[in-house]
Amino acid sequence: MKYASIANRLDTAAAYAWAIHDKARKRQLNGEDIILLSVGDPDFETPQAITQAAIDSLKAGRTHYGFFAGEPALRQAIADRHAEFTGQIVSVDQVVICPGAQNALYAVALCLVEPGDEVLVPEPRYVTYESVVDAAGATRIDVPLDVDRGFHLDPAKLEAAVTDRTRMILLNTPHNPTGMVMTREELDGVAQVALRHDLWVVCDEVYADLTFDVPHTSVCSLPQIADRSVSLGSLSKSHAMQGWRIGWVIAPPDLAQHLVNLVKPMHYGLSPFLQDAAVVALTEQHPETEAMHREYRERRDLVCSRINAMPGLACSWPEGSMFLLVDVRGTGLDGENFAWGLLDHGGVSLLPGTGFGASVTGHVRFSLTMPIAVLADACDRIERYARSLESLSASA
Ligand SMILES: Cc1ncc(COP(=O)(O)O)c(C=O)c1O
Repeated sequence: MKYASIANRLDTAAAYAWAIHDKARKRQLNGEDIILLSVGDPDFETPQAITQAAIDSLKAGRTHYGFFAGEPALRQAIADRHAEFTGQIVSVDQVVICPGAQNALYAVALCLVEPGDEVLVPEPRYVTYESVVDAAGATRIDVPLDVDRGFHLDPAKLEAAVTDRTRMILLNTPHNPTGMVMTREELDGVAQVALRHDLWVVCDEVYADLTFDVPHTSVCSLPQIADRSVSLGSLSKSHAMQGWRIGWVIAPPDLAQHLVNLVKPMHYGLSPFLQDAAVVALTEQHPETEAMHREYRERRDLVCSRINAMPGLACSWPEGSMFLLVDVRGTGLDGENFAWGLLDHGGVSLLPGTGFGASVTGHVRFSLTMPIAVLADACDRIERYARSLESLSASA
């Protein structure tokens, strides 16, 4: 049978980046003692008040079709929060609700780029970006992040990659997989490039609430690019609501209208009772989210100090997000072989760097998505594995 070209374009290595995770999960289901740290699925429960709000709304019969662009109360709550954090006043019409930031990005890409266009993406990059750009039929151009500067972006490198086909810059801060958080100066540099070359700046900000020692700066806090900046957010990470699939786009008015036209045939609007609960998430204080934040910091501190004391392993301290990228080249293995060996010999599943880009094939990504005691156990196992590799190479 014949398939549309999009099906072939999506059948790439990126589609199989989570192969180790799928395998590890099956082994765990079969009773093996495996610690899964290969996916960004937080272990925390959604705060109780939010879950209760969904139940109440469900019982109140909020089970009909909602507005295509999202419920007005939720769009307003997002616009208010956006104004509070970025200083940018946006109207409700500039907010479009999508099932997660992932779908939001997909919808934005379809509205902004097409075959013949180029999209600049700092690399390493989140695994799905490759498929998103491929799906739109555009060409992804990787722009290397500076490994030696904690994976920060040099806007001059971005500019060097611009051609007359470039249409869009796709940023992600705080960054998955490196934990880098872009500075205001770096974003200003990106804004200058975008203005000079008439480009869109789309920024995936799903980890906006999760920084440790530095502030998050939204791309929308740069007034000079207000007509060309797009922010993507969600409740998945900030409120441990991954499975609820509540995300959004904040965009200039014309793009927001195009997005509404697109989401009609794409997903037809999200469940009103989930969106009612999302309003509670955004408009009320939840002590659980503060506790979560504190815990992520403790987890980061424990894992980074342990990893950096292990033979052959090194990592830089993430400034945000819930991940760290571990350089395993000192063990003599690349990320792929290290990760599979660790799964077989240590029962810990980490994600090989391959899916994030060519510059980090010597790395593995560690997710801080388990309680401290489990992470400590995982570190013990990783250390034993790293020592076994050390003694192997000593005896070779
Ligand atoms: C950088 C990044 N963007 C988007 C997503 C997807 O987020 P959502 O659950 O809001 O679709 C993830 C999930 O891990 C992510 O790490």
